[in-house]
Order: sequence, then structure tokens, then C-alpha cells
Amino acid sequence: MPASYGYESFIRESKSEKMEKDSELYKVVAEVFDKSTLMTLYHLINKGVLNELCGVVSTGKEANVFLALDRGGNPLALKIYRIATSDFRTMFRYLVGDPRFRSIRKDRRHVVYEWASREYKNLLRASEAGIPAPKPICVKNNVLAMEFLGEGNRPYPRMRDHPPENPKGTFKKLFSSVRALYQKARLVHSDLSEYNVLLTPEPVLIDFSMATDIANPMAEEWLRRDILNLVKYFRKFNVPTPDPEELIAEIRGERGSSSETAQART
Ligand SMILES: Nc1ncnc2c1ncn2[C@@H]1O[C@H](COP(=O)(O)OP(=O)(O)OP(=O)(O)O)[C@@H](O)[C@H]1O
Ligand SMILES: [Mg+2]
Repeated sequence: MPASYGYESFIRESKSEKMEKDSELYKVVAEVFDKSTLMTLYHLINKGVLNELCGVVSTGKEANVFLALDRGGNPLALKIYRIATSDFRTMFRYLVGDPRFRSIRKDRRHVVYEWASREYKNLLRASEAGIPAPKPICVKNNVLAMEFLGEGNRPYPRMRDHPPENPKGTFKKLFSSVRALYQKARLVHSDLSEYNVLLTPEPVLIDFSMATDIANPMAEEWLRRDILNLVKYFRKFNVPTPDPEELIAEIRGERGSSSETAQART
């Protein structure tokens, strides 16, 4: 690949004419696709994971999410973490408390790659534990490929933008996901809120980059924060949620398996 290889060439060669027409996408492409990211995308194209980028799903602070197609024309979500503009010092702080990432180097690129790899590993653990979350496909450097949760080219709505039709039932399902995440996958999501739940309309957890092994000394504090966010959201819909400390105790297995806790006040 010539040294000057840039995003314009990537757009041409990714065979997506739609992309050239979409100025929003063009802007994002310029910002996200540095040379090493382009190389990573080519690697994924050569492996057959990726064939075409169709459009931007979301432009976040640390990452952008794209809808892409694999060689068979099946949709997938591609989450691409930015390297040059990432807050890698904060990422580093969050990573080193997790026993799986204790010995990483404080180097920008390395930290971002480890960050993407942690999200992949977390999605793998979650899916092995049967928790509703996107199925991971692969991770390479700062690019994570996973199942696309949506209809046509639209992602399912975030719970933030589309409140659940059955808040009580949704709360119960989310609570059991958080409990299974802790007890079976041994993870705390650590960034749980209505922003990181998609409704299919069944609730699905997304955005696992912050999720940490329960052996992290901060895990308990982050679990409490997750539960408080959940309770605060559902109380707005008059869901009679139990005391957060009771919920936390149940998640930690300190109250037997009273799966009725979530229903206690219903
Ligand atoms: N697997 C997926 N399928 C469909 N849409 C997705 C998927 N993952 C993410 N999205 C969409 O992209 C948005 C942003 O994703 P996510 O929450 O993972 O990233 P973020 O908050 O920008 O990232 P981070 O907090 O890690 O910087 C989601 O709100 C959702 O609309
Ligand atoms: Mg998010």
C-alpha cells in the first residue's frame, strides 16, 4: 500500500458509492481513519470479516460505530476507537485495576488496542453466559466487529430515546442480566444507564468497554453506581424497585437466589 494511502482511496475501494455521497460520513471518515486504522480494516477485508462500510451509526467521544456488511452481505456493527484523540490516560487508569490488564504499558496506541480488546473479551464472556448483548465477531487493534442489533440499517433504539412499553418487566429483565453478568460472566458493566441499553424491544446491554472483572477493587463501587442508575431510571416510570442495597446483595449472592427481590415491591 503506498505511503500516501488515505481515506479517499479507502472509500473508493470499499465499493460503497453511498459513502462518497454522505458528507457526514466523509467527515467522520477523515477523523477516524488514520493510516494504521485503514491497514486494520484491510486486514479485516482480507480475512473476509468485512466487505463494505454502509454508514455511521454513532459518533461518540472515544469511538465511532458503523454499520458494515460482511462478505456474505450480512450486517455487522464495527466499533472503531480513535487513537490520536483518545483519552488514553483515563483508559489506562480504568484498565489497570482489572486483573486481566494489570501489566499493560502506558502507551497511547497500546492502551487503545487493549481497550478494544477488553470490550471484545467482555462481550465474549457475556454471550457465553447467555446474557442479551451483541455477539462479538472479532477484534483487531482498535477495531471491534460485533453483531448488528437493528432492523434494516437502523439500530434498535436506546432506552434513553424510547422508554420501554412495559417498564416493570424491562426492569426485571435488566436486573437479571446484571445479576447473571456478575455471577456467571464475573463482570460488572460499570457504565450501565439508559444510554447503554437497546430495546429490541427486549432489553439488550451494549457498550462493554468499561466492564471489569469482579476482582477489580473498584468493581463493587461501580456495581453500586450501575444499580443506582437503573433504579433512578425505572423509578421515573413508577416501577416499585426494591432498595438498591438489597439488589446489590442479591447480585453478589448474599441473599440466596431470591430472584423475587426484583419483584418484592410489585
Ligand atoms: N452492536 C450494535 N448494534 C447496533 N447498534 C449499535 C451496536 N453497538 C453500538 N450501537 C449504536 O452505537 C451507539 C454507541 O455505541 P456505544 O454505546 O457502544 O459507544 P459509545 O458510548 O460511543 O462508546 P464509548 O462510551 O465506549 O466511547 C449506541 O448507542 C447504539 O446506537
Ligand atoms: Mg455508550
